[in-house]
Amino acid sequence: PEAITVGELAKRMGEKGADLVKELFNLDMMVTVNQTIDQDTAELLVDQFGHNIERVSEADVDIDTAEDQDPEETLKPRPPVVTIMGHVDHGKTSLLDALRGTNVTRGEAGGITQHIGSYQVTTKDGQKITFLDTPGHAAFTEMRQRGANVTDIVVLVVAADDGIMPQTIEAINHTKAAGVPMIVAINKMDKPEANPDNIRTRLLEHEVIVESMSGDVQDVEISAKEKTNLDELLEKIALQAELLELKARPDRMAEARVIEAQLDKGRGPVATVLITRGTLKRGDTFVVGTQSGRVRAIVNDQGKQIKEAGPAMPVEVLGLGGVPRAGDVLAVVENEQRAREVAQYRQEKATEKRTALAPTNFDTMFNNIA
Ligand code: GTP
Ligand code: MG
Repeated sequence: PEAITVGELAKRMGEKGADLVKELFNLDMMVTVNQTIDQDTAELLVDQFGHNIERVSEADVDIDTAEDQDPEETLKPRPPVVTIMGHVDHGKTSLLDALRGTNVTRGEAGGITQHIGSYQVTTKDGQKITFLDTPGHAAFTEMRQRGANVTDIVVLVVAADDGIMPQTIEAINHTKAAGVPMIVAINKMDKPEANPDNIRTRLLEHEVIVESMSGDVQDVEISAKEKTNLDELLEKIALQAELLELKARPDRMAEARVIEAQLDKGRGPVATVLITRGTLKRGDTFVVGTQSGRVRAIVNDQGKQIKEAGPAMPVEVLGLGGVPRAGDVLAVVENEQRAREVAQYRQEKATEKRTALAPTNFDTMFNNIA
């Protein structure tokens, strides 16, 4: 007879860890999700929840990132995931272009970002930083919220010649709601009418207090166009990331979050995912949302096929059974049968949820995942 953690048992039962803890509390046992319980107690719980043991041994798992954590000693440092936010045309894409040394902006329809682009940049010190670009247009607010749920740090781009605009404020609010640290990049400093002090002062009205005004928000004056002070920005990001001590376990079956997905004419369903833990490998069987699939190819941010991808890497995955939704978790499982089981289980759950719940609230999603 083996002991099992409450979290693991909850996973196998497809229940919430917190619900099991509550039930145990009713049985006069004070345990947390990370603590182990003996088999008798586990069986009692299973009974209590109306599951039969058979079903549990089939381990029809609701894969959940929040409740089963990797042991501390398996964790390794990982790159930070940085989302660039800000008002339309304040220079988010230009900044990313400058950081990567490419020119995506010119290729965009009307210069407006229509999707979330994800790239990894390596600093002079060899440190990797993952960037997510998000559309700045008001119509794409939802997409921006999606972008932020995997975010460690937000870079708020504010054009020095413009000021605090509606979407600047929106970005500030989302960042605060997620409890994510922010770095302010005051852009377009090359313009004669640039007024960075005005930006800093106006930010005070939204309770964003930069260091020079004795607050704790880092700020940096840049020009994406002239590529000035970009190293300083990267340094500040690296510094902030260091404080966060970001870690993930690389040597396990991968879990990833879908950033965007579409049906590609030639390649079929393609998802851009961000690996949240583990290492994704070609040939892996996975479940994403309510679909199962097998990794046919992994494409990195340079458009090159790679064999595997580790934590905080943004990659495209081919080999999906359908187009998943942004925000879905992609989880590698042992084999195809298991993938089908989990997918089916999730489909049932999804149907239950659809009938039981109101539409997904993005703010809840934002907070739960962050
Ligand atoms: P959306 O994706 O539509 O929200 O815009 P964005 O924030 O990505 O802005 P984008 O990078 O497309 O830049 C908008 C315009 O500002 C373009 O014409 C850029 O050339 C210009 N721009 C961006 N950065 C700078 C800068 O540092 N200086 C100057 N002078 N112009 C800039
Ligand atoms: Mg853009």
